Amino acid sequence: MIDTHSHINMIEGLTLDEIIKEAEDNGVKKIILPAASLSDIDAVYEIVQKYDNIYGLLGIHPSEAKDWTDEPAEKIREYSKNKKIVGIGEIGLDYYWDKSFNDLQKEVFVKQIKLANELNLPVSIHDREAHKDTFDILKEHNNGSTIIMHCFSGSAEFMKECIKEGWYIAIGGVVTFKNAVKVKEVAKEVPLDKLLLETDAPYLTPVPFRGKENHPAYIKYTAQEIATLRGMSFEEIDKITTFNAEKIFAI
Ligand code: NI
Repeated sequence: MIDTHSHINMIEGLTLDEIIKEAEDNGVKKIILPAASLSDIDAVYEIVQKYDNIYGLLGIHPSEAKDWTDEPAEKIREYSKNKKIVGIGEIGLDYYWDKSFNDLQKEVFVKQIKLANELNLPVSIHDREAHKDTFDILKEHNNGSTIIMHCFSGSAEFMKECIKEGWYIAIGGVVTFKNAVKVKEVAKEVPLDKLLLETDAPYLTPVPFRGKENHPAYIKYTAQEIATLRGMSFEEIDKITTFNAEKIFAI
């Protein structure tokens, strides 16, 4: 399996060495580490140089939009010359936490999409309670980058709109929650060639560890739940999602 979105630098209960060992012991071959804050850009770059099976995404989270300037953009251009940097992320819109700077979020989102296009890199998209604006902005401004809808939280109908655009759908631990009706429906219906697995560790921990800190090693519970929902084997879900992730990120 490949954990396509995992903030392993934010996990508090284990060291990086322990996280990676535990992940490997549980069938995780590779981990994609996205940046969220400005300081993550250096942190991600350093970590991916140190560990062979960790790859990085650079960008800033919509909640951090106020920090976006030409300086991080320049740094990302420079760092992305390194082959361990495999995409831009996580970027997007978040109308859940703070609605006071939605316009700034949109502006910074567009700038980072253009940066991804310029660098010819895939993008990990954060969309929280902002489905329509996220969709419209990507449709208008993205020119050629592969789009991954990280921690997909929309309806099956919205998923189909995204699929029509050729975007990928990443499913995380929420799919294991008993009441997650929408995500279960999406997991059942998403075309297999567009499906990715992720943990979003340390957040959104799957059952049976729901409520505790999330680790990449727990991605197997998400894979198993998707397999069960689709009447497929765990191995089939592992194989196809690994293939998709390796293709998108060229890893
Ligand atoms: Ni994230």
